[in-house]
Amino acid sequence: MKPPTHWSTARLHLRPPVIEDADVLFATYTQDPEVTKYLMWRPHDSAETTRDFVRRCLEQWQDGPTYSWVILTQLDDQLVGMIDLEIHGFRAEIGYVLAKRFWGQGYMTEAVRGLIDWALPQPDIYRVWATCDVENLASARVLEKAGMQREGLLRRWILHPNVSDTPRDSWCYASVK
Ligand SMILES: CC(C)(COP(=O)(O)OP(=O)(O)OC[C@H]1O[C@@H](n2cnc3c(N)ncnc32)[C@H](O)[C@@H]1OP(=O)(O)O)[C@@H](O)C(=O)NCCC(=O)NCCS
Repeated sequence: MKPPTHWSTARLHLRPPVIEDADVLFATYTQDPEVTKYLMWRPHDSAETTRDFVRRCLEQWQDGPTYSWVILTQLDDQLVGMIDLEIHGFRAEIGYVLAKRFWGQGYMTEAVRGLIDWALPQPDIYRVWATCDVENLASARVLEKAGMQREGLLRRWILHPNVSDTPRDSWCYASVK
């Protein structure tokens, strides 16, 4: 099952990334240590690293399992961040990131709600879920505001190499039908 390539929310529109987005992504956040702190990858050292990342995102649109979109404002078409959905059978996992200067305006809550609103009504999807580092309070709040329930603590769940060399504890959130 493939999600829609293009979709929108009240203030945002979303589309698959194109290679020309890489310079903007690099300038706005892929090299930012604060933005990448709780992500699974280290800050990019050059726009070429971001281009490789975008190429991988595009390849995934052929067969999945991960489908990525860039997030743009409807008002002035600014690229604010990215969101993705990784589909494994009846489970779909959401991941997301926003450039720092766009934090705190409710954008990611809006995008996450939009993705849940698409995914959960799909006949074959029963669970939409996400995890976040126990110290990533903004991300936990986004998932709560998007209506997900905190299911529990996944101990030593994931490597966040910008925080520690050893696996980190994460909160697990989900919406189910
Ligand atoms: C997490 C992130 C996507 C949030 O996006 P956003 O658009 O700023 O989120 P929203 O504005 O929708 O909501 C953020 C909420 O977190 C709260 N928040 C922000 N920083 C916080 C902190 N340090 N402690 C507690 N709450 C915090 C905000 O007050 C807001 O809640 P409120 O509306 O009840 O006031 C953004 O901070 C980001 O991209 N971070 C870096 C990448 C990342 O961590 N991605 C997630 C990996 S799991």
